[in-house]
Amino acid sequence: MSSTTFKVLTLIISVVTIVQISSAGDPDILSDFIVPPNTTLDGNFFTFTGFRAIFSPTTLSAFRILKASKAEFPALDGQSVSYAVLEFPSGSINPPHTHPRSAELLFTIQGSLQVGFVDTTNKLFTQTLQTGDMFVFPKGLVHFQHNVDPKKPAVAISAFGSASAGTVSIPNTLFNTTIDDNVLALAFRTDVATIQTLKKGFAS
Ligand SMILES: *[C@@H]1O[C@H](CO)[C@@H](O)[C@H](O)[C@H]1NC(C)=O
Ligand SMILES: *[C@@H]1O[C@H](CO)[C@@H](O)[C@H](O)[C@H]1NC(C)=O
Repeated sequence: MSSTTFKVLTLIISVVTIVQISSAGDPDILSDFIVPPNTTLDGNFFTFTGFRAIFSPTTLSAFRILKASKAEFPALDGQSVSYAVLEFPSGSINPPHTHPRSAELLFTIQGSLQVGFVDTTNKLFTQTLQTGDMFVFPKGLVHFQHNVDPKKPAVAISAFGSASAGTVSIPNTLFNTTIDDNVLALAFRTDVATIQTLKKGFAS
């Protein structure tokens, strides 16, 4: 390859990479921030106090997730960032799910968590995280977290590269919608009765 060809190829690759990087978050906005109608614009608009609950001493009986995404914190609209705080009593799980619009950067701040995701070749990647460890769940891939400790709770903070990463819960999507039982029975290579048993667990 001539050196000119090499330079041209390098330039093309750089430009493509830059375009990909600049489109990795939410769409760019043409203003500093987006203010919903009838909003008083001051420091309060840019402040979220919904995580104070984490610091009040309560004993949780089930997995709890507190979100600070565009829905809870409108100032995030157009800013390509959001947070969630995940609290795991001992033995609890965050069931398999995906975030269609963002990767997730999970930071373990208390306890220990068993985590994993499955890539598009169906390969499972798992890890046991200790307090202080961080793990990245790539965008759109199915993942879960589990606090296997029989006594200690675990807490993690997750950052997202979207103001509205979205969550698709796998169990809920499959067994808490009205997808035809026959479709599910065929998909899971089982019978309709088994599917109906699974669906019963989600009936509210
Ligand atoms: C904003 O306030 C005006 C005047 O009070 C009202 O007429 C209008 O419906 C409000 N708009 C929204 C989106 O709440
Ligand atoms: C099932 O779906 C309904 C309606 O979306 C929801 O309110 C309920 O929490 C879901 N059940 C479970 C166990 O997630």
